[in-house]
Amino acid sequence: MHGLAIDAPSGLAEEATSAALLRCCVREVAGPRGLVWPAPPYLLLRVAGTLLRVRTHGGAALRFDGPAERLTAGAWQPLPADELVGLVEDELRGHNEEFAGQVAASRAAMAAILRARAEAVPPADPWLASEQALVYGHSFHPSPKARGGEGWLRYAPEAHAEFPVRLLGVREDVLAEGGDTTVLDALGRAPAGYRVLPAHPWQLELLRPVLGDELVDLGPGPVVVPTSSVRTVYVPEAEVCLKFSLDVRITNCVRKNAWYELAGAVELTRRLGPAFDATAAGHPGTRWLPEPGYRSAALGTRLHEGLGVIVRRSPWTVCSPGVTPVMSAALALDAPALDPLAWWRAYVTVVALPVLELYFAHGVVLEPHLQNVLVGLDAAGHPVEGVFRDLEGTKLVEGRHDLDGLRPEVARALTYDAERGWARVVYCLLVNHLTEIAATVAGRDDALLRELWQAARGLFAQQADALGRPLPLSDLLAGAPLPAKANLGVRWARAADRAAGYVPIANPLA
Ligand SMILES: Nc1ncnc2c1ncn2[C@@H]1O[C@H](COP(=O)(O)OP(=O)(O)OP(=O)(O)O)[C@@H](O)[C@H]1O
Ligand SMILES: [Mg+2]
Repeated sequence: MHGLAIDAPSGLAEEATSAALLRCCVREVAGPRGLVWPAPPYLLLRVAGTLLRVRTHGGAALRFDGPAERLTAGAWQPLPADELVGLVEDELRGHNEEFAGQVAASRAAMAAILRARAEAVPPADPWLASEQALVYGHSFHPSPKARGGEGWLRYAPEAHAEFPVRLLGVREDVLAEGGDTTVLDALGRAPAGYRVLPAHPWQLELLRPVLGDELVDLGPGPVVVPTSSVRTVYVPEAEVCLKFSLDVRITNCVRKNAWYELAGAVELTRRLGPAFDATAAGHPGTRWLPEPGYRSAALGTRLHEGLGVIVRRSPWTVCSPGVTPVMSAALALDAPALDPLAWWRAYVTVVALPVLELYFAHGVVLEPHLQNVLVGLDAAGHPVEGVFRDLEGTKLVEGRHDLDGLRPEVARALTYDAERGWARVVYCLLVNHLTEIAATVAGRDDALLRELWQAARGLFAQQADALGRPLPLSDLLAGAPLPAKANLGVRWARAADRAAGYVPIANPLA
């Protein structure tokens, strides 16, 4: 910037960082204050008294054409990300001395990822390639790629990393586990009286567990491939996914499996089977990734949670033969170039309709944001299956399930009241997910974008009829504003992710 020669990765990282922060500003800062004005082809907004403009398309997804500019002394000047950070700091109340550093760390990580990718070979497996495609991450987050500490690039999915897991042996009397974990025993050989516990090598560096009689080091295990969440890996040799704890902040959360989430995953797996089966009867493309077991070491909460690993089925094992799972977040970057309206209708049918049915008919709250959904594409590239994953974010609607007999912490962590659950479904499905897919499918064609939403509306309305027109769905179809999660607000407040608020945005179904 400012006339300095910059390499391509730095330039792209700067552009993506500015864009993500600017999207947050439109949605969370200027929008709610009434300080956003469409002036096609520009969008104008005011932040901390300064007028900004950017060319935009793609509806609520806010895709930008070219960099943002600020009005300074009557002339439009380029707006570097650091200046936008300064405006945000001026506008928001309070003080957060970490914020600028997080934005800068995220930008540096993007540049490092771009450099590493230039020399790395993407996985041949198209599902894994989609897991590793998120160079810029969440498009409405102020620091989407910030990752604590050093050495993260060795474990980065976007850099096409591969590494062996570390195998620990846990003495049987301190083994903590639940559900079906047989797949873990096949990962290596433990001495008599011990069981195999795979560990993420990065987490071992962070946790530095004390080894001794109860916990022994068995050396490197099978090579694994990290997926988009960084902490969940795929083990090709065992055809299974492992979700580790990772004491690193990635977007809003330090990625630790709490003890009640370890138990909760297994409990949910047991309970969700019938709900998914019933949903699949009417929506035959519906799939999900069960989490049948977890294992850890009962050596105090820190190690129990820090070393806790959840077993998850792999998408290939739940999709039909000839169907290729692809992560939705990757499709949001690059949708297949097929008949856009037919492709979109198929997409909404396999992704959105089961989510609505699970919520209204079964009291199940999925978290169907772009990273938690995979779409099964047939040989022609058409969506035929929707695969839902990540039971940490999956909840049961309070009052609709008998949770007697569960430990209170487990029961609390796996329930949501109906209203909060609905807000989460609408945010994840519509705001986080479908607006992005629609924007990618429509490109710069605004008329097509409107057609896509009309088609979605028709499909939602049919599903509403089938469900007996539940009130929240009628409100949605009548144009109720959508709740958009406030990622900038929650980072600025340094609050827990579950404390994140929502801001209303216009409803494209209306
Ligand atoms: N549009 C998006 N919405 C939400 N998360 C996104 C998005 N794009 C990228 N991400 C990334 O995806 C991950 C989502 O976090 P989430 O809590 O769903 O996953 P997880 O529980 O860590 O792992 P897994 O999905 O493997 O169970 C984060 O790493 C986040 O940065
Ligand atoms: Mg997830």
